[in-house]
Amino acid sequence: MSDIDYKSEIERIKKECGVTVVAHFYQRDEVFEMGDITGDSLELARRCKEETNPWIVFCGVGFMGQSVKIIDPSKRVLMPKIACCAMARMIDASYFDDSVEFMEKHGIKKENILPVTYINSDATIKARVGQMGGLVCTSSNASKIISKALDSGKKILFVPDRCLGQNIAIDMGLKSCVIGDGSNPKDADIICFDGFCSVHQLFTPADVEFYRNRYPDIKIAVHPECDPKVTALADFVGSTSQLIKYIKSLDPEQKVAVGTEYNLVNRLRDKNTYVLSSTKPECPTMNETTLEDLYKTMKSIEDGEPLNEIFVDDNTVKYARVALDRMLDIK
Ligand code: 13P
Ligand code: SF4
Repeated sequence: MSDIDYKSEIERIKKECGVTVVAHFYQRDEVFEMGDITGDSLELARRCKEETNPWIVFCGVGFMGQSVKIIDPSKRVLMPKIACCAMARMIDASYFDDSVEFMEKHGIKKENILPVTYINSDATIKARVGQMGGLVCTSSNASKIISKALDSGKKILFVPDRCLGQNIAIDMGLKSCVIGDGSNPKDADIICFDGFCSVHQLFTPADVEFYRNRYPDIKIAVHPECDPKVTALADFVGSTSQLIKYIKSLDPEQKVAVGTEYNLVNRLRDKNTYVLSSTKPECPTMNETTLEDLYKTMKSIEDGEPLNEIFVDDNTVKYARVALDRMLDIK
């Protein structure tokens, strides 16, 4: 079947079966174009909550589809590929428990720890966080969520992305440490788990230097999953949607080099927008989903044999939902 046939078939099944296709900005262009709802991870979670169609076909990574199911378990959520974000895989329930234990060993009682998990984590982590009174954040609301968390007067355990945790701390004038870096968590406000995004680690201070030397007036815009050494050199740091808004607000003659996933930057690319890396910064898992996969998933709904449906057990949903709802309640 050609791309055109896939596209028209997908549109037909959407209408006939009541399916909403959701796509993250990092998806391949041909998949992204099929999205009824597109956006960054916060926008997708909020908009899926309001969606009335019974079927959601989510083109993104595993934790995103899982979050939609947790927020509204009555929805039937399918993913053309249940591709797992590499960062989300860096922490499981036992690593989470070890992190709490590490803080306890340093004299911080469990009741004085408030965990915050980046949405890039498995449902089991969100459930642990919910059970301890904590909440979820995304890259676009992280400062707001951390401010709210700090109102509790507790130490913040931030998982799994050390870079996002460190970047928020710097932004808010707080002290952070990373578990395993040898420092005492008692001296920090935000204690970060040592996870990271391998895609956003590709951007280095040398890349910034290269572009600044080449075009002295260039702007540098990066995602907060980049290392603090890189964000410190940037003109703008923001989530995927915030980056798009920033780039669109610039004078068309203004050069800008962008440090985030390739598919998004490439979509925005014109003569003045550059990818801030000599290596192609593609997220392998986001790229797994093809137009053919999307078509096959749609067809499986029509055929009454849904493929790759997302299920989360009731106990996990119960607590993970608390953590997600606490985030969604903060406007
Ligand atoms: P956004 O919240 O900006 O969509 O980021 C999700 C993500 O996985 C970035 O790597
Ligand atoms: Fe996960 Fe990084 Fe891919 Fe985002 S870009 S989905 S954090 S691996």
